[in-house]
Amino acid sequence: MTASPKKLHIKTFGCQMNAYDSERMAEALAPAGFELTEAMGDADLVILNTCHIREKAAEKVYSELGRVRKSKDARKAQGRDTMVAVAGCVAQAEGEEIIARAPVVDIVVGPQSLHRLADLVAEAASTGKRSVETEFPADEKFAALPQRTTGKRQTSAFVTVQEGCDKFCTFCVVPYTRGAEYSRGPDEIVAEVERLAARGVREVTLLGQNVNAYHGGADGGSWQLARLLQRLAEIPQIARLRFTTSHPRDMDDDLIALFGDEPKLMPYLHLPYQSGSDRILAAMNRKHTAEEYEALIARIRAARPDLALSTDIIVGFPGETDADFEDTLALARRVGFAQAFSFRYSARPGTPAANLEGQVPEAVKKERLAVLQALLEESRHAFDRETVGRRLPVLFEAKGRKPGQITGRSPYLQAVHVEGPEALIGHIAEVDISAAGPNSLTGVMKTEFEWREPVQAAV
Ligand code: SAH
Ligand code: SF4
Ligand code: F3S
Repeated sequence: MTASPKKLHIKTFGCQMNAYDSERMAEALAPAGFELTEAMGDADLVILNTCHIREKAAEKVYSELGRVRKSKDARKAQGRDTMVAVAGCVAQAEGEEIIARAPVVDIVVGPQSLHRLADLVAEAASTGKRSVETEFPADEKFAALPQRTTGKRQTSAFVTVQEGCDKFCTFCVVPYTRGAEYSRGPDEIVAEVERLAARGVREVTLLGQNVNAYHGGADGGSWQLARLLQRLAEIPQIARLRFTTSHPRDMDDDLIALFGDEPKLMPYLHLPYQSGSDRILAAMNRKHTAEEYEALIARIRAARPDLALSTDIIVGFPGETDADFEDTLALARRVGFAQAFSFRYSARPGTPAANLEGQVPEAVKKERLAVLQALLEESRHAFDRETVGRRLPVLFEAKGRKPGQITGRSPYLQAVHVEGPEALIGHIAEVDISAAGPNSLTGVMKTEFEWREPVQAAV
C-alpha cells in the first residue's frame, strides 16, 4: 500500500544551525511520506524553524503564524487539513506560551528534540492533541536522526559538529535555547562528511554556536577542532573546509597553525568581537579585551597573511557611551573586516543584561548602527577591490542569473560571477577577477577545460 505523498513546507529563520536543522527535519519526515514544497498553501504540514536572538526575530514568528492561519483556513474550506509546528529557539524559549498565544499551532518542538518530530506528528494526527516537546537530550538527537540523504545536489554543505554554549554572554539567549555545550563524536561527523562527499559535495562548513570549543572523542574530548579539520581534509573529494562561529577565547595554537598548514582550510574566519570597549566587553562577560582580540588577529594573520576576517558587533549595549562606541569604530577601522554583521542591542527576557541600568535609547542605537554600518560597508568594498586583478580559485555552485553565467565562491567567501559552462558546477577553476560590484565580483575564466570534462585546478 503506498499512500499519496504528503507535503511539507519549512520556513527557516535565524542562523545556519537552524538551516542545518531544517534539512535534518525534512529527512526525518521523509520516511513518514512527507515531500518538501515551496508553497505553503500546498502543505499538509507547515514548520516554522524560529530564532529568538533578538526581539524582532522572535516577533516575526507570530506575524508568520498569522499567514499560516490564513493558509490553514483556505485549505480547510477545500476540505484539507493542515498541521502546524513551531520548531527552533522560540519553541525552546517560549514553549507553552506559543500554544496559549497561537491556537493555530499543533506542535512545539525544541532544537534538541527534532528526532522526535515524526512521532509527534503521528501522535498529533491520531489524537488531535497539541503538544510541547522541549527536553534537552542532545546526545540522543544525532544518533536518532536518519542518515543524511539530501535530495538536492549540493556543492557546499553545512554540518553541525557542536551545539549549545556555556559562555553566558550577558546579552545572549543561546545558552538557554540551545543548552550546554555538546560535541558530536568525530566518527559520526567523518561518516556524515564522507556520505556528503559521495553525493558530490566539495565544500563543508562545520557549524557550532562555539565551533572552536569543539572537543569530541570517546575519551572525553581529545579531538579538538584542528584535529577534526585535519581528518576531514583527508577525504579526497572534499576540496574546501570552513567553520563558524568561533569565540576568540577558544582559538587554540593548533587551530591557528592550521590556517597556515592546511591548504583545504579556507582563509576566512568569522570571529565576533561585539565591542571595542573593555568596559563593555567586561559587562558582556566576553572574557577578553580589545587588545587581546587584536593580538589574536595578528597571530592568525601571521599564520595566514591573506586571511579574510568577518565579525559580529553589537551597538547600544546597556551603559555604552559615545566614547565606548568610538572604541568599537576604531577597532573595526584597525582590523579592516572583509565582512561584518552588526546589530542594535535587543534586551532579551531572562538574560542578565536585560536588567542592567543605562539601557540606551533606540534612537541612539539606530544612529550608532548607521555610522558603524557605513564604515563596515566601506571596509568590505575595500577588501573586494583589493581582489580585483588577482587570479583566484573559484568553487562553482550554481547557474548565474544571466544566460551563460555560472556563479561560485572565492576562498574569501566572495560571490564570483563568470561566463562559463554549467559542467563546471561542483568544480574549482581559476578566475581572473576583473571587477567588484556592490555584492559580488566578476571575472574571466582562466582554467582550461574541455567541454563535458572539466579539468579541475588545484585548490
Ligand atoms: N555564538 C556566536 C554568535 C551567536 S548569536 C558568538 O559567540 O559569537 C549571533 C550574533 O547575534 C552575536 O554574535 C551577537 O553579535 C548578536 N546578538 C546576540 N544576542 C544579541 C542581542 N540580545 N541583541 C543584539 N544582538 C545580539
Ligand atoms: Fe551567545 Fe556568547 Fe555563547 Fe556566542 S558565546 S552563543 S554570544 S553566549
Ligand atoms: Fe537564533 Fe537560535 Fe540560531 S536564537 S541565531 S536560531 S541558535
